[in-house]
Amino acid sequence: MKIFYNKKDLTSALNYEKNVGFIPTMGALHKGHISLIKKSRLQCNKTILSIFINKPQFNKSNDFKNYPRNLRYDINLIKKNKVDYLYIPNSKQIYPRGRNKKIKINSFHKKLCGKFRPNHFHAVVDVVSRFVKIINPKKIYLGEKDFQQLLIIKDYFKKEKINTEVIMCKTVREKNGIPYSSRNLRLTDNEKKIISKTYNFIKKNKKSIIRKKIKKKIMIKIIHSFGVNKIDYVKILDVNKIIKPFLKEKKYKIFLAYYINKVRLIDNI
Ligand code: PAJ
Repeated sequence: MKIFYNKKDLTSALNYEKNVGFIPTMGALHKGHISLIKKSRLQCNKTILSIFINKPQFNKSNDFKNYPRNLRYDINLIKKNKVDYLYIPNSKQIYPRGRNKKIKINSFHKKLCGKFRPNHFHAVVDVVSRFVKIINPKKIYLGEKDFQQLLIIKDYFKKEKINTEVIMCKTVREKNGIPYSSRNLRLTDNEKKIISKTYNFIKKNKKSIIRKKIKKKIMIKIIHSFGVNKIDYVKILDVNKIIKPFLKEKKYKIFLAYYINKVRLIDNI
């Protein structure tokens, strides 16, 4: 595996590559990230992964400061998983002239997490499109775990005619149902049990929740009773009706964001 810290070295190495799969990450890698690598290795000639903790997309400076960093572990893990190129730029490489504050993204950014994290999705789209400009990959691999992020990026690429195909990858979970997340490193075993209970409750009762046989108020009460201290939102959405053109078939997902102590978690089921 070749590691690049410098944009110029990277672009000259990628010059003759035509079928590159790209996985953008913020590090603290886990099995969710690995599943994206595996998919790219199956579909592309070369796989490149980036590690860059993108400060502008954090709304709270403490969340940025406390974001888990484990570069040595990450490098070993991706070497084992046969990634061809790793790109670890610094902030200046990505933002030589600061952020693009004029970026226009789908209005879906105002919903769900956007209500609680102003400008978050603008910052995500800004950084991902900067990476894509440098790497020019054929495909980009994004997880359904961050469904809103994925749809907004996909829509942006389409509108801006960016020639990189967005590949959706299923959420990978632990046996107890918890989605792998870098933020899980900040949780105790007891706190993880709360997430597991929340997931299993929603999974088991998904039909009744969608048909409103279990009312939202009751659902929220039950989730609190597991030990969740703050819920940002629980929303049922038909994923085919979020961004135009709408598809005909209905596919409901339950989206939620909540806190366990100071750690904010998101999921969609
Ligand atoms: P990060 O949280 O590191 O996630 C990188 C990619 O891994 C995202 O596409 C995310 O959806 C996917 N992912 C995370 N957990 C997953 C899981 N349990 N199963 C499947 N895929 C999973 O998302 C970001 O970084 C950043 O916002 C980024 C896109 C890199 C821009 O800074």
